Amino acid sequence: MTIFPERVFSGIQPTGNLHLGNYLGAIVKFVALQKTHECLFCVVDLHAITVPQDPGELRQAIRRIAAAYIASGLDPVKNIIFNQSQVAEHAELAWIFNCVARMGWLNRMTQFKEKAGKDRENASIGLFAYPALMAADILLYRATHVPVGEDQKQHIELARDIAQKFNTDFAGSIAANGHDGPFFPLPEPLIQGPAARVMSLRDGLKKMSKSDPSDFSRINLSDDAEAIAQKVRKAKTDPEPLPSDVEGLAGRPEAENLVGIYAALSDSPRESVLQDFGGAQFSAFKNGLVDLAVAKLSPIGGEMRRLEDDPAYIDSILRDGSLRARELAGPVMDQVKDVLGLIR
Ligand code: TYM
Repeated sequence: MTIFPERVFSGIQPTGNLHLGNYLGAIVKFVALQKTHECLFCVVDLHAITVPQDPGELRQAIRRIAAAYIASGLDPVKNIIFNQSQVAEHAELAWIFNCVARMGWLNRMTQFKEKAGKDRENASIGLFAYPALMAADILLYRATHVPVGEDQKQHIELARDIAQKFNTDFAGSIAANGHDGPFFPLPEPLIQGPAARVMSLRDGLKKMSKSDPSDFSRINLSDDAEAIAQKVRKAKTDPEPLPSDVEGLAGRPEAENLVGIYAALSDSPRESVLQDFGGAQFSAFKNGLVDLAVAKLSPIGGEMRRLEDDPAYIDSILRDGSLRARELAGPVMDQVKDVLGLIR
């Protein structure tokens, strides 16, 4: 029976501004996991082109995600940091998964429904098939763990369904090709934490997102100290003081969001944040949150700007990462072809 060694894969799309949700929901987890796991961190540029992109801006956005990874503390020597389009096997395996996944499964994806909106007929086929590409990203490396924010849970479940169907549909050929057990692992999402779903600073019921028209809805990793302070001070709240326990956050989405952000930034449980701030007015809590957010985020923004001024350095990291990724991807793709009966 195959036992898959633990391996972490995750990715971020090079679109729009990287914000606090991406940082707390994903990057902070990457930084912790690099200490214990073999990790691949990808800039998923092929996902970005499922909607129109300006080529010049896309190139910069790819470098900006790589810069954010490094500025946040990901080590490009220990981890494989690369961009998806430099490893052709992602697109190759995605095609094969397009033939494994069922229309009905993809029709249920809430992100597609949100992104395509009312004009579904006019959405790209890539936007519809996007979760099959995401499954390919993960399974190409037989990754077992995928750190993501809550909004990606459904996509990881689909990746598990695709892995499972591939394993069963081709079980005979998998065994005939010498594999003792399943071909792909069923990847586990790693979602837990107080900031798995960071909400908009303007509306505690809406997710913080790159596409929100109001820049005051999010803190960008590129914001300077003044912008961070302004956005926290303007963040929507309710009139009550903060509760002293987590149960008291129920029905208070803005309070819950800001406390979750504080907890995640200070790497402490929400209970201890509320021990410190229970009974306090939001103005006092926001002063603490400004200090914490500026201390944690503004050095990252500064380092990102420094790195982005040296695109040749970033490109060399991505090139090196993609060479290392290809060394892992090539043999898996060869095995997939053998299992399917393709000649190589
Ligand atoms: P993307 O680029 O939209 O977001 C990158 C990561 O940030 C998380 N995230 C959030 N977490 C908490 N609160 C929020 N408000 C918030 N907004 C975003 C996302 O959950 C994600 O972890 N499809 C993926 C990219 C992808 C991928 C993959 C991820 C492509 N292939 C393979 C993992 C494995 C996406 O669009 O993420």
